[in-house]
Amino acid sequence: GKGLAVFTSGGDSQGMNAAVRACVRMAIYLGCKAYFIREGYQGMVDGGDNIVEANWASVSSIIHRGGTVIGSARCMDFKQRAGRLKAANNLIQRGISNLVVIGGDGSLTGANLFRQEWSSLLDELLKNGQITEEQKTKYAVLHIVGMVGSIDNDFCGTDMTIGTDSALHRIIEAIDAIVSTAYSHQRTFIMEVMGRHCGYLALQAGMSSGSDYIFIPEDPARENWREMLCEKLLQERNAGQRLNIIIVAEGAIDRDGKPISAEDIKKVVVDKLQQDTRITVLGHVQRGGNPSAFDRVLGCRMGAEATLALMEATSESVPVVVSLDGNQAVRVPLMECVERTQAVAKAMADKNWELAVKLRGRS
Ligand code: F6P
Repeated sequence: GKGLAVFTSGGDSQGMNAAVRACVRMAIYLGCKAYFIREGYQGMVDGGDNIVEANWASVSSIIHRGGTVIGSARCMDFKQRAGRLKAANNLIQRGISNLVVIGGDGSLTGANLFRQEWSSLLDELLKNGQITEEQKTKYAVLHIVGMVGSIDNDFCGTDMTIGTDSALHRIIEAIDAIVSTAYSHQRTFIMEVMGRHCGYLALQAGMSSGSDYIFIPEDPARENWREMLCEKLLQERNAGQRLNIIIVAEGAIDRDGKPISAEDIKKVVVDKLQQDTRITVLGHVQRGGNPSAFDRVLGCRMGAEATLALMEATSESVPVVVSLDGNQAVRVPLMECVERTQAVAKAMADKNWELAVKLRGRS
């Protein structure tokens, strides 16, 4: 059977294990040889024990575990051609020319470049005597399929990335916990949540916990945000509420693009309203812990679909990313999604928030 390898790259997220498991088991079911590549691209470059054949049992008892059991890394070596040459050799020597990459846009872009460069890498390996003419012919095309694992839900082309739902569970559990102590002391809490340049986690967490105010990068704070904030907090207190909760995305900014931190907000609340105010930065708690049922099922569906997509790939087909469209697992052209995701980043940098939001939405 064909050789297929799966690896996780970039920041981890809950549900990656479910995706790895489904991908491996579908591959075995279809009669392929399935491999894990440990530690992301670094393991591909280093080879050796980092590339191991997986069997049915090697993915047992991982579906409920957070993180990625096969490890993940940000890899500098793969950014150099010499690293990619080593990686290509390691794959060919094991008969692998099908890759499933689970990661964010950077990891998926890397896979696509590797695929484009593949035949020139094989030429070089042949010239160096590292592979045979037969190997070069047999593994002439590198097939890749992507899955998006990230708590940020910042990738264009999928309604949900693997891990976002679990991170949200973690966040609202934390907010609920904070609410009880805030209530006792009539305090105001500012909770900083992750999401890099994406406000999805902040927005959803704020809505699902009934927070009073939310700061997100896609809707930068207006010039008079201080007054607006104080007015809202006072309004809630005057209506009888004993506490206030403010959610700030780590990438929150004002209309000039200047970051707004939890400290900046605290200063306003303390100076203008003299409220007893505390800050809680949730940090990596959000990325840890067991995946939610949603992320387990999402990982299962995407993993199985990724393997199927690889098995159906031909030398003419464009690489795809398996994504969620409504409630359907679908295949969408990988580079279209990556380019759109990068266009969002550019629109944000250009302070064109409207365009950024439009590009993030469904096309
Ligand atoms: O992309 C996931 C994420 O957790 C972001 O929300 C956050 O900005 C970043 O990764 C943190 O990166 P690191 O784990 O390298 O500190």
